[in-house]
Amino acid sequence: MFSDRINRLGESLTMAITQKAREVKASGREVYGFSVGEPDFDTPVKIKEAAKKALDDGFTKYTPVVGIPDLLSTIKDKLKKENGLDYETNQIVVSNGAKQSLFNLLAVLLNHGDEVIIPNPAWVSYPDMVNFFGGKPVFVETTEEEKFKLTAEKLKAAITDKTKILMLNSPSNPTGSVYTEEEYAALGKVLEGTDIIVFSDEMYEKLIYGGKKFVSIAGVSEDLYKRTITINGVSKGMAMTGWRMGYFATADASIAKAVGKLQGQSTSNINSITQVACITALDGSVDKEIEEMRIAFEKRRDLTVKLINDIDGLSVIEPDGAFYLFVNCSEVEKDSMKFCLDLLDKKAVATVPGVGFGSDGFFRMSFAMDEDTLRRGIGLIEEFVQGK
Ligand SMILES: Cc1ncc(COP(=O)(O)O)c(C=O)c1O
Repeated sequence: MFSDRINRLGESLTMAITQKAREVKASGREVYGFSVGEPDFDTPVKIKEAAKKALDDGFTKYTPVVGIPDLLSTIKDKLKKENGLDYETNQIVVSNGAKQSLFNLLAVLLNHGDEVIIPNPAWVSYPDMVNFFGGKPVFVETTEEEKFKLTAEKLKAAITDKTKILMLNSPSNPTGSVYTEEEYAALGKVLEGTDIIVFSDEMYEKLIYGGKKFVSIAGVSEDLYKRTITINGVSKGMAMTGWRMGYFATADASIAKAVGKLQGQSTSNINSITQVACITALDGSVDKEIEEMRIAFEKRRDLTVKLINDIDGLSVIEPDGAFYLFVNCSEVEKDSMKFCLDLLDKKAVATVPGVGFGSDGFFRMSFAMDEDTLRRGIGLIEEFVQGK
């Protein structure tokens, strides 16, 4: 009965663990939800006020499919001011979360057999989306020693005449790795003379630590600007996961037009109230609140990295961004699915197996919760590792 397409799509592993955690909770136990991929903070008040006003003003009708003009020009200004990138509003499309931006882009760009290079470990949804559209994920393994970043040599070796897209994500989910300008420039050199499109997923842009600088690959050279699609949103940095807004910007307006056509025949515009709220999220009005959240995350990163590295048998490299630790548990258990299921069963701590991100022997834990919960949860992980 089902299409080949849907049969090629796996269930999101993060969702699967979250579901299992719900079951443990329903049995009356307190669950430490370290598997979640969202900030614990509430959306900044000014954003909520903008939404309330939009509702009271009756801004409740269909809007242009790709986003209201005021939001598109706010995004254009944001990209110029914060990322040094020049786009016109007809090169930008607003979608129902960056997830839909990615999905739509792959839908309009991929043909059967097209290859998409995905450096592993990578966000769980990339390979499934590629498979869904009949593309072929080409995984390139990166190592802890490389800080889980793709090198120019490995990129070169992975390119074939079928390569259509290179998927990059900095700061990374699940590793928190952040590419430098030099690293991007080295990748850019390898891409010169090819038709490869770069997807730069910049969802965690606002969550960056240790004085590191966030760099958009599209700003590194003219060649990279032309071939890159910059993808971003408000879910993570602005604590707006439930509002559903993501966007992309491309030098090639025909790509934006094609996505607009697809969106017009599928979901149409995103929620009208969300669009108004996102103007406040992106125009600088809540920069102070965003920075406060970032500082809190940085403290939690420092705390959790230390606590995990103090546990015999576990180790983690310090992430430069996002809000995850990608913990090496291979000394204790190489089978990450087994590790995470046992940990959930025995200690009610939910984490995500590294195998879901393409790297067995690791698990991902979020540090997007209060310090007390983090301390107690990591205490339970320690007990579990010690076999208590
Ligand atoms: C790397 C990455 N990209 C994109 C997304 C999608 O975010 P949203 O659809 O909420 O904008 C996520 C969410 O988990 C993510 O981790």
